[in-house]
Amino acid sequence: LVFLVIATYLKNRRPSSFPPGPWALPLVGTLFSVDFNNAHKDMTELAEKYGNVYSLKMGSSWIVVLNGLNALQEGLLTKGDILVDRPLFPIHTDVLPDLGIIFNNGYMWKQQRRFALFTLKYFGLGKKSLESTIQDEFNYMSKEMANHKGKPFNPHLIMNNAVSNIICSLIFGHRFEYDDEKFLTLIKMIDEGTQIEGSIWAQLYNEFPMLMRRLPGRHRTLQKLYGEIFKFMKIEINQHKKDWDPSEPRDFIDCYLNEIHRNKKDGEVDAGFHEDNLVMCSFDLFGAGTETTSTTLRWAFLYMAKYTEIQEKVQAEIDRVIGQSRQPSMEDCANLPYTDAVIHEVQRMGNIVPLSLPHITNRDLKLGGYTVPKGVTIIPNLTSVLFEKTQWETPHVFNPGHFLNQEGKFVKRDAFVPFSAGKRVCLGENLARMELFLFFTSLMQRFTFCMPPGVEPVLKPRVSVILSPSHYEICATLR
Ligand code: HEM
Repeated sequence: LVFLVIATYLKNRRPSSFPPGPWALPLVGTLFSVDFNNAHKDMTELAEKYGNVYSLKMGSSWIVVLNGLNALQEGLLTKGDILVDRPLFPIHTDVLPDLGIIFNNGYMWKQQRRFALFTLKYFGLGKKSLESTIQDEFNYMSKEMANHKGKPFNPHLIMNNAVSNIICSLIFGHRFEYDDEKFLTLIKMIDEGTQIEGSIWAQLYNEFPMLMRRLPGRHRTLQKLYGEIFKFMKIEINQHKKDWDPSEPRDFIDCYLNEIHRNKKDGEVDAGFHEDNLVMCSFDLFGAGTETTSTTLRWAFLYMAKYTEIQEKVQAEIDRVIGQSRQPSMEDCANLPYTDAVIHEVQRMGNIVPLSLPHITNRDLKLGGYTVPKGVTIIPNLTSVLFEKTQWETPHVFNPGHFLNQEGKFVKRDAFVPFSAGKRVCLGENLARMELFLFFTSLMQRFTFCMPPGVEPVLKPRVSVILSPSHYEICATLR
């Protein structure tokens, strides 16, 4: 018995000079220190007890959580080279055709990310064409909203469809109608998949893959959903191959087909440009580009309905600077500091990717006075920065003043990190910012949002990999 106790103690003991943390139990580790339905909050609270760099044990693996702006900057910026990689999880590697961008590492990740950034820029960012795609999409969306004639409706699918159409125009070269059943099913799948990704089923699968592969459960639904989404991507790719003209690429898929061709000719294989990776990259961009911006906008409606005086101030600024005779454009941003501050505050309070995506140390890391060996998963706790007491005057209050100086001018804040930071910073940050600005200002110009009579806005999120509002209904009245 003494031998067993000593052996268990040694097995669960933290490596020397490792960040501190709660006591780890055999088999379950520190599982009971964090409630999966509230992981971002529990992880932020643990920092008060153990400091800004602390460790947890998930089953048999150690993870380190970075909290607060200083630790995040030290990890992701100053020592970003050591944290540039992602851990690979069985729930993904068991079903993904390849590693795409989000789950890729090393030279292949660099090439895939560089190519995606370049292509997105080529097809729109910084060009007028993307701006007009968003403005046109707003017109479809606003018609859909106006059809409800100020009566309560659930904005979830309309918003997902509208936002998704922007990334679809870039990847597939076309949009989808709001009543396209196949497309609606697809975006519902993305929503359901995101929910399961953040659930205990995915954690159990990653911890005990041999066992979970044999058991029924929601992990199987997730893998089935992935399969369906890949099928959709393949249909789009095959369609493109039929009328592909290398001299006139129309979208991301055409450019990628060109790149596959070029790499074959040059004998370059390590960069990973082949069809399976095209499926995966399209999936990454489509998935990441659909749920995120749309969730942020759904938070915006709720905040505007709750703080009607803020909504009125936004509308007054838009009326003064733009009026009602033309649609907002990116050039207006500099003249709409209050509106810009409100969008930033929605992102801060919405905190939609609360624990970012995981990173992994690719060699020993010295951080905050501790040593973290190679191969340890690192969680950048964005929540801890977006609500850090020393960074924000009123961290838990919706206050656009966080982004305004005394003269009412917009000010950037280092602790504004919803897109994370460093080499893995969100690839779609510029696209998301453009979508948020144009959709939000256009919506505020055209509609007033309020809750149905007698209903209070619920600001408690649905927790998964992303924090989204629980399903709600809202009234959008034409101004
Ligand atoms: C990664 C947030 C919109 C594509 C990420 C990460 C965060 C994030 C926190 C993880 C960064 C890290 O690992 O440190 C957001 C938010 C968005 C948004 C808050 C909207 C409000 C988009 C859009 C796209 C996109 C529109 C589509 C192009 C990606 C990709 C990655 C990523 C591909 C993985 C990057 C890599 O691993 O190199 N995003 N995102 N995101 N995002 Fe976004």
